[in-house]
Amino acid sequence: MSGRVGDRKRLVCVSAANLREHHLYLTGHTDFFPADAFGPSTAKAGIAKPVRLDVAGLTEPVFTDIPTDARTGKPRTFFRKRAWVGEFFARHGIKPGDTIAIERIGTRRFRVLPFDAKSEHQRLKIRDGRTARRFAEFFAGIGLVRMGLEAEGWNLAYANDIDPEKLAMYQAHFGDADEHFHLGDVHSIDGSRLPDVELATASFPCTDLSIAGARLGFKGEHSSAFWGFISAIRGMHSRRPPLVMLENVVGFLTSHGGADFRAAMEALNELGYAIDSFVLDARWFVPQSRPRLFVVGSMIPNGDAMESAPVSRIRPMLLRKFIADHPGIRWQLRDLPNPPERSERLLPDILENLPDDAPEWWSRDRAVYLYNQFSERHRTTADAMIAKRRWSYATVFRRVRMQPNGEKRSMGELRTDGIAGCLRTPKGGSGRQILFKAGYGRYAARLLTPRECARLMGADEFNIGVPDNQAFFGFGDAVCVPAISWIAEHYLNPALASVRPGLSRATVVGA
Ligand SMILES: C[S@@+](CC[C@H](N)C(=O)[O-])C[C@H]1O[C@@H](n2cnc3c(N)ncnc32)[C@H](O)[C@@H]1O
Repeated sequence: MSGRVGDRKRLVCVSAANLREHHLYLTGHTDFFPADAFGPSTAKAGIAKPVRLDVAGLTEPVFTDIPTDARTGKPRTFFRKRAWVGEFFARHGIKPGDTIAIERIGTRRFRVLPFDAKSEHQRLKIRDGRTARRFAEFFAGIGLVRMGLEAEGWNLAYANDIDPEKLAMYQAHFGDADEHFHLGDVHSIDGSRLPDVELATASFPCTDLSIAGARLGFKGEHSSAFWGFISAIRGMHSRRPPLVMLENVVGFLTSHGGADFRAAMEALNELGYAIDSFVLDARWFVPQSRPRLFVVGSMIPNGDAMESAPVSRIRPMLLRKFIADHPGIRWQLRDLPNPPERSERLLPDILENLPDDAPEWWSRDRAVYLYNQFSERHRTTADAMIAKRRWSYATVFRRVRMQPNGEKRSMGELRTDGIAGCLRTPKGGSGRQILFKAGYGRYAARLLTPRECARLMGADEFNIGVPDNQAFFGFGDAVCVPAISWIAEHYLNPALASVRPGLSRATVVGA
């Protein structure tokens, strides 16, 4: 787990390498520290105005700063001193996958302590019964919905998935699956045995809804797992959570001419949920194009709900038309802010710096074979990249294209806008994304690495710990972490916070 909890706390996940090297990585958190806490690259050149760290278990406070990169001047992602980190890890028996909290307790003063989601959960409940934010994650996969929600103060109570390989990857990162992960078919879940939660999430299989597939929709054996989720929620009776969230491909909206989406929304209405829906593209948060349709079902009344969906990026024409064409569905549309225009990082920013002789780079013959698969247009683009006096990067997808003579041919398509195409599961050897690097009259190619895939999902510090192909499946199926955090921050948390003190649960859920 890593991320943000409110304004005053950041969570940092510890990997095996961090433990070995006594590093506490601050990736994504440098904005948490005062601007004058960033010093020169070497201590010899001096340090910046130090911050004070009160480290749990250590008798003396640590005074340190954050060095900057000598070349770019950008903040590095760790504190200058490291000896105390090793002592802190040893004192608390920190293991890979454990989470460390950094709390701001003054302008220049921070507390560093192990983070225990459970006791955090207890504290929230004790402080104010109605602020408990517990969730059940259906179709949990490798747990990226969890990652996004935990960063916004949510606590996991239950997770389910059918795939032992996904569970292995989930366990490698979170390490606590024994406590809450139920490995099994969603259709076999007895809702009456599920714990109390405020939110249930379902990023159910897209296989039958995706435009790339046969589009069997809810008649397909994969996407019909949605009904297992509905049945589990129904089985919770009056304990049904006040919020549910679905995630799927945008093709969900048009599957069987809209009939599948309508049936799903009607089922949620019948369970007491008013519906909202919007589209978020991962490219607004990370350098990956991955538009996804989200649905939030809510039992919490919203007096400020909009009558109709205004024109916006998050509710495109197709969705607004669906809403307008289905007045029989009980909608409750929240006025949401605009998400970021684009990711701050581009493809080159998430690449691993692999040496030229790293085994990941393809042989010359294989790279030439790829080059020869480019159409004339893509070859012109590749040639322009090769001719530059600097390195530039593109991703390549192989697609089967019909030739003018009626033959089918596998063609390579370059994408050069700094955004990777949508990560997919590498079924049958295809679907893996290729990196094309060119400049100085040369070019090379390799697959994106699992770490790069993790970064494209906004799960930079995911402790991968499984073979590469298993990791490609895990990330290809997963959700974009910062997109989930955005929903929690702008939708789920305000919705829960609007529950007035003293309003009984029965009133909230209308049960
Ligand atoms: C789109 S992926 C969800 C990925 C997940 N949100 C993540 O971030 O890793 C769909 C998941 O549904 C699981 N699944 C498919 N059929 C299922 C079933 N009948 N019961 C439970 N899980 C199922 C798959 O194993 C897969 O992990």
